[in-house]
Amino acid sequence: SITHVILTGGVGSRLWPLSRKSQPKQYLDLFEGKSLFEMTVERNRTLVDQVMVVGNIDNCHLSRQVLEKSNTSYIDIIESTPRNTAAAIAFAALASDPEDILIVTPSDHIIDDMEQYLKAVQEAIEKASNGFIVTFGIVPTKPETGYGYIERKGDDVVSFREKPNKVTATDFIAKGNFLWNSGMFCFKAGVFLEELKLFAPEVYEKSKIAWDANMDGNLDLALSLDIPSISIDYAVMERSKKIKVVPSTFVWSDLGSFESVYDYLAATGHAVDTNGNMVIGTTNYTAFVGVKNTIFVYTETANLILQKESSQDVKNVYSALEKQN
Ligand code: GDD
Ligand code: MG
Repeated sequence: SITHVILTGGVGSRLWPLSRKSQPKQYLDLFEGKSLFEMTVERNRTLVDQVMVVGNIDNCHLSRQVLEKSNTSYIDIIESTPRNTAAAIAFAALASDPEDILIVTPSDHIIDDMEQYLKAVQEAIEKASNGFIVTFGIVPTKPETGYGYIERKGDDVVSFREKPNKVTATDFIAKGNFLWNSGMFCFKAGVFLEELKLFAPEVYEKSKIAWDANMDGNLDLALSLDIPSISIDYAVMERSKKIKVVPSTFVWSDLGSFESVYDYLAATGHAVDTNGNMVIGTTNYTAFVGVKNTIFVYTETANLILQKESSQDVKNVYSALEKQN
């Protein structure tokens, strides 16, 4: 059967103050009164037989609210502490039959053009059935350093490079045969576990120990802390020879930072003034004088003013505040 595995472990610290620990960005009603989490569930509903949520103890009640509202039955995997995506996906795979196809997606992306999306996932399912680990490749538009890059020849993957530096990313874009990794994956549970065992044996072993001791899907803290914290991209994607890519033409945005939120909102008609300034979170008339490419974020309890290019640094504010508490 086909399972939609939703990764929802992140807190979205680069979107502070919109995103809070108590209310991570995937649960905010950012668009059309729906949260990104809810949109993620809906987008995949017709493709899958079941839903599995891998989240954490702080946010599992928020996932539950959404899923119960839409009468979606689901399997809940609750991490006591985040151990990154290799382990999170390993739990989902260990909870599945080895022949089950997993469609693994984050819960905080924006995707437009459903027809293209469904087509891409169908193609991925087909390749996954043949034993491949499938990624979804997005045509890059700038030398973003926060993404993985897929070097491809047709749908064959020559290499996978996670988060290259600016110089390397610029070089990749100039070469023309690189796609961004969208962060969604499709594979048979058993194929993923075999590759994990091969390329990151410690992650495999420790995840299995933690999973085998789970209580109703709840993972033990001490056993979890034993698992190396590494992403699927570094642990498996950069090393496996079984990777295929489905070049995808749907509109995709990882709303990871205010820069990507800005790009998305600007592309979909949200007001940007002639100096590239943008207001998020309030309809109050806001004037920008003498500043360029500045984003003003308003919330009831905290505001943020940032230079668009400094979007990646917002997480420092989040960390600093977290230390104070
Ligand atoms: N359950 C769980 N547990 N989920 C997690 C954990 C964890 O420990 N860590 C991260 N996640 C979730 C995040 O909430 C997010 O939805 C997804 O897994 C990916 O993690 P990120 O931390 O956002 O990864 P990234 O943005 O740095 O990079 C990944 O995504 C890019 C595209 O958005 C990579 O796959 C890149 O290659 C890719 O380009
Ligand atoms: Mg991300």
